Order: sequence, then structure tokens, then C-alpha cells
Amino acid sequence: MLPPELDRRYPLIVAGDGVWVQDAAGRRYLDAMSGGSMALTLGHGREDLIEAARAQAEKVAFVHNERLTNPAQEQLALELASVAPEGMERVHFVTGGSEANECALRLARTYHVERGEPRRWRVISPAQGYHGPTMATLALTGRAGLHGPLTPYLREQPHIPPSTWRFDPTGEQALNALDDALEQAGPENVAAFFSEAISAAALPAYTPPPRFWEGLAERRERHGFLICFDEVVTGMGRSGSWFAADRMPFTPDIIATAKGLGAGYAAIGAAICHERVYEAVARGSRSFTLGHTWDGSPLPCAVGLAVIDALRRERLIERVARRGSSLREELAEALHGIAMVREVRGHGFLLGVEYVDPRDGESFLPATLGVAGRIDDVALAHGLVTLSTQPTGDGYAGDQSLFAPPFTASDEELAEMVARFAAAVREVADYVERELAGQKPVPQRVAAADVQ
Ligand SMILES: Cc1ncc(COP(=O)(O)O)c(C=O)c1O
Repeated sequence: MLPPELDRRYPLIVAGDGVWVQDAAGRRYLDAMSGGSMALTLGHGREDLIEAARAQAEKVAFVHNERLTNPAQEQLALELASVAPEGMERVHFVTGGSEANECALRLARTYHVERGEPRRWRVISPAQGYHGPTMATLALTGRAGLHGPLTPYLREQPHIPPSTWRFDPTGEQALNALDDALEQAGPENVAAFFSEAISAAALPAYTPPPRFWEGLAERRERHGFLICFDEVVTGMGRSGSWFAADRMPFTPDIIATAKGLGAGYAAIGAAICHERVYEAVARGSRSFTLGHTWDGSPLPCAVGLAVIDALRRERLIERVARRGSSLREELAEALHGIAMVREVRGHGFLLGVEYVDPRDGESFLPATLGVAGRIDDVALAHGLVTLSTQPTGDGYAGDQSLFAPPFTASDEELAEMVARFAAAVREVADYVERELAGQKPVPQRVAAADVQ
């Protein structure tokens, strides 16, 4: 193994059931992060999804897209088009989120080239974003801290700052920054605005104010670029509607989605485009060649169909929409009075907690305290899987946590997740206050050592 962190001891997970996972020593952890990365929207051990994969594998497990197609892929494309925003009718399948975003980029560029505007290639995006670790997707984030030594491989793109309470609560400054970026790049060179509709790890559960989205749509109209939404996390119900785009004052041109489409049971992603994007190809070269081996393969597509069926049959998106706002209130209440908790945000089952320096209630916490990482370690010691975001030193965001349970979590399980999470945050807040008061650093807890 070449693990992400060489000095970390990782719990060895051998079983999962609903919102629980169990390690080799028999310790059980509540999974408040849907498998750790928000993919496992329907929980562990789903017989219907396992059966769908098995049944498809028995019929035909694999054929490649280039010369062959299959009913699971064709049907899943129809189903996705039926739940996507109006007019978004064409689907290209890939294997995951980064590939879906790269496919969206390729589609945006293709659209302009096919229409005789090959100059359009620049992509403007919010600086505090995350679109994946591949070179093209990494180039889309303005967090230089994530680029690290890969900078020579990354083509620089224009960025705008986030409209958070700290910088720009109305969204007007971001619109001004967008105008500046358009001006600098030359609007005739801009292919797309690329953004998460609601952010995940980069700025948990944040979305710009409505004024920003309205202004963006006006500028698309004026300048002719496309709007691409990264809905790798928010697609397939996470925010309480099929897509976060459903609640926008405009229809995007391209949506990339992934995680919840396979619900953690299969690696699958998709780029869904508006008919006008498809038409550009249909009237132009009539080819869109993107040939990853697994694109549209029957097995993951069959799982995708079973996921959509389960979301519909169990009315899970309705539950996420209904339960999400009370979950946010419960989380806010459980964290009430902790001076380093500045904001609890939420859309459906995508919630975010933002931490600040308790001494003034607004500055970023000193990075040396490693608060985000500590919260995850302490939560794991409390038997809870969480995922927090470390600041990357770019000045847009500090320590934050995500809270994104499976849609199938019962009220009792949600309450237990909230309680364990709040206990972890209180424990870390206590260390932080002591260390900021100049006391000796508290040794960091080792993951999972004392889980009941
Ligand atoms: C918003 C967003 N976009 C893209 C990605 C990349 O997806 P993948 O890891 O499947 O390539 C992620 C992964 O966490 C994500 O959160």
C-alpha cells in the first residue's frame, strides 16, 4: 500500500450495515460521511443494489462503448435525462467525479469549436473549489496549496473569490471579479464558468447568494460562455432535490455528477448536457470521442438504475429535503456555545461547520493547531466517521467540517451522529482554548484507540 498518510493508522473496515461500519477488531463506527466521501448515499449492505450488480454480471458484465452499447447504459441515460433539469437530455457516462468534470470541460470546449469559435478555451471558476485530483480538474481550483509540486503541469485559469460572510455577503464583489476576469481573458475567449452548485469539501455546504447566480446568468446571456456545474456530490439527491441546479434561477449547460449515482456500489459518473450543446455536435463533426474503458459499461449502469429506483421507491430525496433543515438546526443546537464554531450551514444532507479563532470570533484559526484534522481523529475515537477540510493557506477558508450522512439514516442514528460529532468538537475546542491561552500543546489522539 501507498496510503494517503504514511504515519496514520487506518481502521481496517471489514463490514458495513446501514450507517455502521465495523473494523477487524470488532469496533463499530457510525458513518456520518456516507462511506467517507459522500458517495454511499443509501447506506451499507443494500441487497437491492447488490442484486442489481449480480443480475447484470450474470447477463453481461462488460462491453466497451466504442463499438457496442447495452440496455443498462441506454436506460440509465433516459432515467437521468428524466430527472435532470428541463432540456438536459444527453448523457455521457464515465467512471467517477474527476472524469465527469473533465468530460464536462471537453464538452464545453467542443461546443464552441463545433460552432466555429475555437478561440474559446478559458474557464473561470471560484477560487475556493474542488473538482478532483486529475491535472485538468486540479487546474480549476484556485487553491494553490492543492497544486503543490504539480504546478508545471497545470494550465492557469482565472478565478473569483467566494462570496462568504467574511468577504462578500451579497455576491456583488464576486460579480465584479467575474467581470474583471471576463475583461482580462477577453469574453470572446471564455468557454465556461465552472463551479460546484453547492460546495462540498472546499467550503462545506456553501453556495453563493442568489444575486450572484442571477448575475452569472445575465453574463452568460451577454457573453456566450457555458455554465458547467460540478454536481459530483450534490447530484442524485444530496441537497434535497435531484440536482442542486433544480433550485437555480437558470438551467446550466452541463452538469457533471458521480458519487451518489453508484451510491458507493459501483464506480460511475456522468456528464449531462443541454440539448443545445448536443445540437452543436450533431450539426458539426457528429463525433464526441471520449473512450475510457469503463464508460457506460453495463455493470455500473445497472447499479445506477437500481439507485434511481431506490431513491424513487423509498422517497428518499423527499426525506432529505424534509429532514435536512431540522438536521441543520439540531447540529447548530448541539454546537451552540462553542466559541470556535462560527457557522453551521446546510442544504439537505450536505451540512458544513465553519470554525474561527475563538479570541475574536472571525479570524481563521492558526493553521499550526491542525483543528480540522484533530476533529476527525477525535470523532473517530468517539466512533464516528467525519471529514473535515484543512485550510490550504490560500486565504479563502479556514478549518471546516462536512457532515453528510446517508439518506437512509434513521432519526435515532442522526441524533447519535450529531451527539458524537458535538462531543468531538467540544473536546477539540477545549484543547484549542487551552493552547491559545499559551498552555502546553495537548497530545493528539490516536485514531480509534478507544472506541466502544
Ligand atoms: C465536488 C467534487 N468534485 C469532484 C470530485 C472528484 O471526484 P472523484 O474523486 O470521483 O474523481 C470530488 C471528490 O471528492 C468532489 O467532491
